[in-house]
Amino acid sequence: MPTPFIPRLRLAALVAFVFGLAAARAQPAGAQDHALPSAAAKQVELGEQWFRAACAECHAIGGLSNADFRLKWSGRSAFELIESIRSTMPESAPGSLTQGTYIAVVAYLMRTNGMPVGTTALPADSAGLATVRLSFTPASSTLRR
Ligand code: HEC
Repeated sequence: MPTPFIPRLRLAALVAFVFGLAAARAQPAGAQDHALPSAAAKQVELGEQWFRAACAECHAIGGLSNADFRLKWSGRSAFELIESIRSTMPESAPGSLTQGTYIAVVAYLMRTNGMPVGTTALPADSAGLATVRLSFTPASSTLRR
């Protein structure tokens, strides 16, 4: 009579499944590199964290994602936006963040205003940043993060 074995088989299957999951999680870092976010996406994420930490006390999340902002900055360079923010913000302590943080915050603002996250992160050097044009398409207005 095989019936009593069925629960055991189920248990064995469950155990194998759980161990399988554990083994999958235990894969060394890097084994799933393709699934990791791109450097550009990471920069945007870092920028969002800093925006929440250093800007959101005065600027609501999404408060700098609007038509006025896009109109003002469209056609100008990422460098200009970074310099403008660095020299005036946070209002209580302009220039107090690292350059890398200002760059990440601008990557985040570019994203929340609808620019796609590129395949490469914003560069760290002024000359490189000066070549990055801000351009917002009309469809941008519906994109939020
Ligand atoms: C203590 C409050 C405060 C904090 C913190 C703060 N801001 Fe501001 N920010 C303001 C005020 C007030 C204005 C509007 C007055 C002005 O333009 O100077 C402003 C203006 C701006 C503008 C110009 C907006 C426009 O439409 O031209 C940008 C961009 C900006 N802030 C970005 C930031 C970023 C990025 C941070 C975080 C790194 C930040 N601010 C932190 C108070 C703050």
